[in-house]
Amino acid sequence: MVNDPYPDYMRESIKNVEKTREKRLKVTMDHCSPDEIDDVLNNFHPDFIKEQKASLRFGVSKGEVVPLEVSKLIETKSVLDPKKVDLNKIDFNVDMLIIGGGGAGANAALWAIKNGVKAENILIATKLRMGDSNTTMAQGGIQAAVREVDSPAIHYLDAIGGGHYENDPPLTRRLVRDAPLLLQWYEKLGMMFDKFEDGTMDAIHGGGTSRKRMHFAKDFTGAEIMKTLRDEVFNHEIPIIEFCPAIELIKDDKGQVAGAVLLNLDSKEYITVKAKATVVTTGGFGRLHIQGFPTSNHYGATFDGCVMGYRAGAPLKMMKSVQYHPTGAAFPEQIVGLLVTEKVRGKGAQVLNKNGEQFCFPLETRDVEASLIIRECSKRNNGLVTPSGQPGLWLDSPLIDQIHGEGTIAKNFAAMVRQFERFGVNMIEDPILIYPTLHYQNGGLAIDENTATAVKNLYAAGEVCGGTHGSNRLMGNSLLEISVFGRAAGIAAAKNIPKVSLGKLTLDHITKYNALCDEHKVKNPPSPILFPDYSQDKHKDRVIPTNFLV
Ligand code: FUM
Repeated sequence: MVNDPYPDYMRESIKNVEKTREKRLKVTMDHCSPDEIDDVLNNFHPDFIKEQKASLRFGVSKGEVVPLEVSKLIETKSVLDPKKVDLNKIDFNVDMLIIGGGGAGANAALWAIKNGVKAENILIATKLRMGDSNTTMAQGGIQAAVREVDSPAIHYLDAIGGGHYENDPPLTRRLVRDAPLLLQWYEKLGMMFDKFEDGTMDAIHGGGTSRKRMHFAKDFTGAEIMKTLRDEVFNHEIPIIEFCPAIELIKDDKGQVAGAVLLNLDSKEYITVKAKATVVTTGGFGRLHIQGFPTSNHYGATFDGCVMGYRAGAPLKMMKSVQYHPTGAAFPEQIVGLLVTEKVRGKGAQVLNKNGEQFCFPLETRDVEASLIIRECSKRNNGLVTPSGQPGLWLDSPLIDQIHGEGTIAKNFAAMVRQFERFGVNMIEDPILIYPTLHYQNGGLAIDENTATAVKNLYAAGEVCGGTHGSNRLMGNSLLEISVFGRAAGIAAAKNIPKVSLGKLTLDHITKYNALCDEHKVKNPPSPILFPDYSQDKHKDRVIPTNFLV
């Protein structure tokens, strides 16, 4: 083969995959038994490695178990020296400050307008550009129970089953209840969902769903949602300040949140924003590379919102739990960690070991599927290792065209085909190599079903929050989360703004938090970090199984 991207030993292994394909077309593996699920999670899911966790030593969630990487960002001083900010000089005085330019932030702004807030009294502050977010990166779909055979109650049961019954019931209830409304609204705004010829929406299964309720726009659903929302934000002329991330929240002398200090990334100047409602929609923490895992997340996913919220007195929840998506790209090197949407398995692709054998049901919930893959590579020694040392297993993508007919992959996975094609891999003809990738932050700021945190005038929506998904989120519930809770934040803030009376602005909470850090003799670099640090080898601490490395 001319210019084969796969080295010989991988090509040999692909022959095993091809040999078993015909037989596998007719046989699907069964789900794991409950006992096997417990066993594989306890022994192979990275969340269960005790040495990789810490218990927070101070602050409002003292005692909360968090990944080590998170504890370093929480148990440390602020990057902001409060003495360097003049709160008598306010640069923006608005009704509503939205921190974050992803799907949750856009929804919050748009629904606030629908509920009476004037567009010119809103400010969206973004770290990068409007729309640079995990929303845009999302591929597979958005869940909503809209079919006759389905209902929000069934969706609820799936979500709490997937979340190991650790979900916060009011949050999950709101998630599933408002889903049909949001799906309808997106369609009204012009989002291009994939449809059948009769005009009804196409829908597939995701891991852990008992009904087909994943709606999608090919394999770039998040980009399509974000494009639609961003256009709507632009149409309303909502003020946006780009490349100006928030670095700390401002409070008032009554203990309420009253805006934020932004950092202009160009000039390095501080910008002060006074606001009657502040909504944190900063997304997740993939770029912390928990336990050295690669990530599917966008460049700005560095946990900032939780850090700022925590210092202002908002508790964290469910921080023990991290989501590793079972199928991140493992080869070629240039795209390691990027998402290979669950929809590929939803359409029939199977995960196989180096011998071309199926060893698990392809659509277990994510934590279980990821653990089974890790076990197959480590204890069972049935994985491949790429020339750069990355373990991986095959995802038999060509099976999809065999099941559904030629052209299905090209039509449904246009972005994915291109992503691999750029590096010479043809996923229509050859299987692709995958391994779990750090995908989603299950924990985060604690909110109620109207997105209020424990601190007055501070709201949070989207991945920055914890509790909605328990200890494991199902596919398609994050695009839903940014939609439902972004909207909820816009409505809640709009209702409350007329009642808000702010006192004297202060950053005393930062001074006090810094003093607490001194008391505990913390030596971690200050936070929020805003961007990942790739100047050192972040992957050196990676806890990958090594007993099969050759
Ligand atoms: O696999 C995926 O397409 C991911 C979707 C999600 O995290 O919801």
